[in-house]
Amino acid sequence: MFVLIWATLLFSVRSNADTGVDWRRPFCDRGYCITLSKGEITAEAGLCVVIPCLFTTGYGFIAQHIVWYKCEAYELCDDSDIIFNTNRNNEVQSGFKGRVSLLEPDVNQGNCSIIVNDLTEFDSGSYQLRVNGFLNGREVGYTFYTRARVSVKGLTQRPTVMIPPLTEGQQTTLTCTAPGLCSGSDPEITWMWGGAGETDSRTTGNITAFKTEDLTAVTQRHSSTLTFNLLAEHHGTDITCKVSFTNNITTEEMVTLNVTLYPKILNSSKCELQSVVLTCVCISEGFPLPTIKWPLLKNQAEYSVTTTVSNHRVNSTLTLTVKEHSNTAVECVSSSEVGEAKANLIIVTSERREADEHGPCAVLLWTVVAVVSLIVNVLCIILLMFLWITRKKVKPNQEDRTYMSLKKTDPSPEYDVIV
Ligand SMILES: *[C@@H]1O[C@H](CO)[C@@H](O)[C@H](O)[C@H]1NC(C)=O
Ligand SMILES: *[C@@H]1O[C@H](CO)[C@@H](O)[C@H](O)[C@H]1NC(C)=O
Ligand SMILES: *[C@@H]1O[C@H](CO)[C@@H](O)[C@H](O)[C@H]1NC(C)=O
Ligand SMILES: *[C@@H]1O[C@H](CO)[C@@H](O)[C@H](O)[C@H]1NC(C)=O
Ligand SMILES: *[C@@H]1O[C@H](CO)[C@@H](O)[C@H](O)[C@H]1NC(C)=O
Repeated sequence: MFVLIWATLLFSVRSNADTGVDWRRPFCDRGYCITLSKGEITAEAGLCVVIPCLFTTGYGFIAQHIVWYKCEAYELCDDSDIIFNTNRNNEVQSGFKGRVSLLEPDVNQGNCSIIVNDLTEFDSGSYQLRVNGFLNGREVGYTFYTRARVSVKGLTQRPTVMIPPLTEGQQTTLTCTAPGLCSGSDPEITWMWGGAGETDSRTTGNITAFKTEDLTAVTQRHSSTLTFNLLAEHHGTDITCKVSFTNNITTEEMVTLNVTLYPKILNSSKCELQSVVLTCVCISEGFPLPTIKWPLLKNQAEYSVTTTVSNHRVNSTLTLTVKEHSNTAVECVSSSEVGEAKANLIIVTSERREADEHGPCAVLLWTVVAVVSLIVNVLCIILLMFLWITRKKVKPNQEDRTYMSLKKTDPSPEYDVIV
């Protein structure tokens, strides 16, 4: 009776020392009491589970070893169901070898809590405690009737990816921390550029480091860091951290990189003057999105500016009528909260433009006209030459005839025949 009161007192004190466990009332039988957490303990595959447990033994019993079994809820557990035994000489189920540890190594503390690592769904079930020891010099054991129920579900927790503020041109280190604080096998942590499934070789990773921190004797934190130099093209790219536990249990997290990009004026920006109309285009990129200003407009009354935005690019088009212009360049200023960029856009005067304005059709038309006129000219020349040659051929014939006729003026019998 005294032991019972003492035990109850002990449990109430222990319960008050908050361990985050929702304790069930102790279940007692002849001074042997066990306290387990209320309800089913849930855990996720790949991670670990702690089965909180306290026990007291009957008067005169000296605890020596703690034994845990796992078996079907309404079956009696036997030696083949042993998953843990502080007496290391005894065999345990092979599937549990090295996966179970007692949180408090001193059995006499009455703390029978265990941690089971590298969980799989097969670890769901009921867990039973037995304490082996001596009573009045005889080797005895007591198996507690009440059991702990554990349910292991598929892994849903994801890694945590820490991203510091990212700025173009600077070196950065991303940290990925695996879920769970366990003491099982080290998970494998890998980094991939791109989203899940896709791999982007364009920006291969650089230095990765794996770290294991021992938080307590039975809890460790695993993390990996990725260090690389940030380029403008990293902005908006996805990076995935994948954590692989034993038994092919994996989880991953994808993050999108937001890189601060200083405003930059692209060299496709330009100014053109066409008679009295000045058109300037200034294109700038940056993140956060920059704005574009035209200092020239301070003293201008009539102008139009149109701005278009796509992604992290701004395009500002200025149209202005200039009566007399002395400037050779127009300044474009692009700024955001992180910086400013300026560019002098050289004014290109395009007089030819009016002809060009009609486009390639006009060019084609003029080519056709030129070719046709050339052909006509060549034909004319050929015709003239032909005519000239024919005329030249006719002339000597006539002369010959004249000559012949002159020669043959003397009467001859053939003369009449020839004529
Ligand atoms: C059992 O022992 C472990 C390790 O010392 C401790 O963290 C835990 O709180 C103890 N449980 C109770 C109920 O005191
Ligand atoms: C890491 O990046 C630096 C330059 O950024 C390069 O010289 C080095 O080869 C890279 N290391 C690996 C392992 O890719
Ligand atoms: C893990 O999964 C991959 C593909 O899903 C498979 O090829 C591999 O054999 C599996 N490994 C184990 C140990 O089950
Ligand atoms: C990245 O920027 C976009 C747009 O500014 C914002 O919606 C998003 O939350 C940012 N993401 C991170 C991880 O900061
Ligand atoms: C613009 O800059 C790129 C590189 O910065 C260069 O390759 C390209 O020739 C430049 N284009 C013009 C029109 O200046």
